[in-house]
Amino acid sequence: PEAITVGELANRMAERGADLVKALFKMGSPVTLTQTIDQDTAELLVTEFGHRIKRVSESDIDIQSTEDVDAPETLQPRPPVVTIMGHVDHGKTSLLDALRGTDVATGEAGGITQHIGAYQVTVKDGSKITFLDTPGHEAFSEMRARGANITDIVVLVVAADDGLRPQTIEAINHTKAAGVPMIVAINKIDKPEAKPQKVREELLQHEVIVEDMGGDVQDVEVSALKKTNLDALIEKIQLQAELLELRANPDRDAEGTVVEAKLDKGRGPVATILVGRGTLRVGDVFVVGAESGKVRALIDDKGRNVKEAGPSTPVEVLGISGVPGAGDPLTVVENEARAREVAAYRAGVIQQKRTTAAPASLESMFSALR
Ligand code: GTP
Ligand code: MG
Repeated sequence: PEAITVGELANRMAERGADLVKALFKMGSPVTLTQTIDQDTAELLVTEFGHRIKRVSESDIDIQSTEDVDAPETLQPRPPVVTIMGHVDHGKTSLLDALRGTDVATGEAGGITQHIGAYQVTVKDGSKITFLDTPGHEAFSEMRARGANITDIVVLVVAADDGLRPQTIEAINHTKAAGVPMIVAINKIDKPEAKPQKVREELLQHEVIVEDMGGDVQDVEVSALKKTNLDALIEKIQLQAELLELRANPDRDAEGTVVEAKLDKGRGPVATILVGRGTLRVGDVFVVGAESGKVRALIDDKGRNVKEAGPSTPVEVLGISGVPGAGDPLTVVENEARAREVAAYRAGVIQQKRTTAAPASLESMFSALR
C-alpha cells in the first residue's frame, strides 16, 4: 500500500498536522509530521476527521471535505496569489512597494518586515495580482504545515550583490516541497557590484535552472530602488498564472485563510483574510480557527471600507470573538448557533469528548477496512 506523510495528509485534509499526530498517538501510533503512514491508517484518519475519501487509484488518495467541491461551470478566473520570499534585506518589501507604487518599507520599524502584508495590485491591463510579503520563510512553512496552501506562485528575491544566502536556499526548498512554481527576481541590479550571472550559477547548484541556462524557471533582473524592469516581472507572473488556469467559484459562502491577526486597541480582534473561494460579505456569520463571529466591517488593502471580497482578495475582517492564528481557515456558516458549534469543535471540546470514547470504535473501524 502507498504511504503518505502525516504532514501531507493534514495538508490535503486542511486540518492541523498537530491534531493528526494527536489522533494517531491516541490510536497507538506515535509518529511525527514527516513520518509516513500506510493508506489504511490514512483512510481511518480521514474518516475520523469527518472527511469523505475518494480513492482515485491505489497510489493517489484524494480527499474532499464533506460539503465541498464546486461544479466546473461555477468556476471563474481569479487573480494569482504571489508570495515574495528571500533572504533578509534582499529587497522583498522594497520590491512589493515598487510594485504597489507606495512606500511601506520606510514606515516599518527599522525597515524590517514584522508581519505578512497582503496587497492586491491592479496592473496596466486591468488584471489583478495578490501579493503576500513574508518576513523570511517561517510564515510560509508554518502556513503550509497548517494546511493553508494559499500561494500560487513564489517570487524569489535574490540580491545580485549578495547572491544565494541561507534563507534563499530555505525558500527554494520550501517552494519545491510545496510544489509551487517559482520566478526569480534578481534584485539590486543598479548596484555596481551586482553579479546577476553569478546568481544564476548559484541557483543551478540548487537545481533551480533558469531559462538562459536551459531550464524552465523564469528569471528577471530588477531594481526595486530604481523601479527597473518591473513590467517584465509582472509579465512573467501573468504568464505563469495563465499556465495555472486559476479558478474559483465566487457565488458561494466564503472560505478563506488567516494571513495575519492581531488585537487592535480600538477595533478589537482584526484578521487579514485571504478569500479562497466564495464571496465574503458584511453581515456574514463565520468560524475562523477556534473563534467565531459576524462580519462587522471589511477593510481592503487601501484602508477603504468595502461591502464584499471575492476570491484571491485580501481583506481585514472585524467582528471576531478573539484573535485567530495565522493559517487558520475561515468558513462562512448559516447561523450563529452553527458558528459557535463549529468553533467549539475546532477548539477541541468535541474532539476530546470523542477521543475518550474512541478506542473501541476505532478498533472496529480498523478491522472493517481490512
Ligand atoms: P526583511 O523584510 O528584513 O527580510 O528585508 P527585505 O527583503 O524586505 O528588504 P527591504 O525591502 O527592507 O530592503 C533592504 C535594503 O535594501 C533597504 O535598505 C533597501 O533600500 C535596499 N534595497 C532594496 N532594493 C534595492 C535595489 O533594487 N537597489 C538598491 N541599491 N538597494 C535596494
Ligand atoms: Mg521586508
